[in-house]
Amino acid sequence: MTSKTVLITGANKSIGYETARQLGSQGYRVWLGSRDETRGRGAVERLVAEGHDVRLLVIDVTSDQSVQAAAARVREENESLDVLINNAGIAGGRDAPSLQSVEEIKTVYETNVFSPIRVTQAFLPLLKAAGQASIVMVSSGLGSLGWLSDPANPFYPVNILGYNSSKTALNGVTVSFAKELASEGIKVNAADPGYTATDFNGHSGYRTVEQAAAGIVWLATQGADGPTGGFFFEQTQVPW
Ligand SMILES: NC(=O)c1ccc[n+]([C@@H]2O[C@H](COP(=O)([O-])OP(=O)(O)OC[C@H]3O[C@@H](n4cnc5c(N)ncnc54)[C@H](OP(=O)(O)O)[C@@H]3O)[C@@H](O)[C@H]2O)c1
Repeated sequence: MTSKTVLITGANKSIGYETARQLGSQGYRVWLGSRDETRGRGAVERLVAEGHDVRLLVIDVTSDQSVQAAAARVREENESLDVLINNAGIAGGRDAPSLQSVEEIKTVYETNVFSPIRVTQAFLPLLKAAGQASIVMVSSGLGSLGWLSDPANPFYPVNILGYNSSKTALNGVTVSFAKELASEGIKVNAADPGYTATDFNGHSGYRTVEQAAAGIVWLATQGADGPTGGFFFEQTQVPW
């Protein structure tokens, strides 16, 4: 058991919620991020009823004001943050690349790329204060150019311009932060949860949220000698 703290964005349901449950089981104090107070409160109540130390953190990752207010709220109760999991993400539409509107792609990038940057920057003082912290960007195998350009890979035919390239960009963001923050003892990695049955895909995924969260939790809880600047699926490195 640990006395560490973690913030998970978009944790009111699905992969983020299960990640909160698994880290709660390890003794983490969980700040459960939810953009909607009512949905977040329900999720917190369920996890507290299971015996976990979970607090609600209202945070819309696309809003500077909301993210700053959330960081101030955590600072009221904690002097540091050990783990940040940038999990909140959206899919956008599945129009062919030649048809997907730039407006829609911008919306996807706002949540999947700019928001993890915004949240990471806002929580960096708390993460630095932990001495040894860990940041996990919840990416996707659909962000792997290695996989997407390999005709033998199952993801090869899934050609969603906005979503896929947003996760490729997020992988780039991961490498940038990892390099800068290594000297601060902060590890920054990307996790592919795999194709998982959630609202995100109308529950068409073949993996469970328990399986998806396990890989994220493994990455988030690596010690001082753990990896940084990598991309992992089920504890195995994924090609960029
Ligand atoms: N499911 C998969 O097969 C799969 C595969 C690879 C990667 N991923 C990635 O895994 C992550 C979680 O996916 P999921 O399947 O759990 O998706 P999900 O069921 O759609 O849940 C997404 C979560 O993100 C939250 N969210 C969305 N926009 C937000 C915002 N602006 N501010 C704060 N929270 C926001 C949602 O909140 P609301 O409830 O308020 O909408 C929800 O809690 C995403 O980054 C996704 O890209 C998923």
